[in-house]
Amino acid sequence: MLFDSHAHYDDEKFNEDRDDTIKNARESGVSYILNAATDIDTSLFGVGLTEKYDFIYTAVGVHPHCVGAMDEDAIIKMSELVKKPKVVAVGEIGLDYYYDNSPRDVQKHWFLRQIEFAKDVNKPIIVHDRDAHEDIMNLIKSSHAEKVGGVIHCFSGSVQMAKELLDLGFYLSFAGAVTFKNARKAIEVLQYAPIDRILIETDSPYLTPEPFRGKRNDSRHVRLVAEKIAEIKGLSFEDVALTTLNNAKDLFGIA
Ligand code: NI
Repeated sequence: MLFDSHAHYDDEKFNEDRDDTIKNARESGVSYILNAATDIDTSLFGVGLTEKYDFIYTAVGVHPHCVGAMDEDAIIKMSELVKKPKVVAVGEIGLDYYYDNSPRDVQKHWFLRQIEFAKDVNKPIIVHDRDAHEDIMNLIKSSHAEKVGGVIHCFSGSVQMAKELLDLGFYLSFAGAVTFKNARKAIEVLQYAPIDRILIETDSPYLTPEPFRGKRNDSRHVRLVAEKIAEIKGLSFEDVALTTLNNAKDLFGIA
């Protein structure tokens, strides 16, 4: 009973064994997977996965790394894809000031544009925030993204930022990084945030938790994230698994 709320099974690192990896995850107790898109091609790929696997849902959207080449045509394509029954969110969208793969004003423009799109189609957003906390908060507030809500994936902000997001109705998602030795900040946020506002994810094939760090990640390892959160919050593993699963179903409108 686990919901991996953020994975990238479109990634070429799965080209050799994608189907086996997905089936193994299902057999190991992963009940749901949400595939997060990074551009129009991966949005399309995600929709294909939802048609092949009953327990996979998907988002459509353009990642800040990829917005340099984005245009309004992409929004038109997303408008078509979002009509598919298992497209449940817009993402991942946001700002990445660590890699700065696209100019910051371009990143901000398309983050806002995709929030407007999410509001138009009434879907929650999946937000990528790397070293851009202040602008993420300003743009979420000024655009009233709370009208659709969403989740900040692999949350890396402070307790204060977490409080502001929780007050706006957002969820916070945590990945394998909570198992790393330098996870002090994430642990503080996890101690603070109520379990009914937390999601878990792998961000596969990235962010592999300990003790598998360095290897390719897959959804089976979302169990390790749940175990770590259970330890931090003094809850049972079953409690964390079931509550985070229900949180994700609520947010993404999965019956
Ligand atoms: Ni991701």
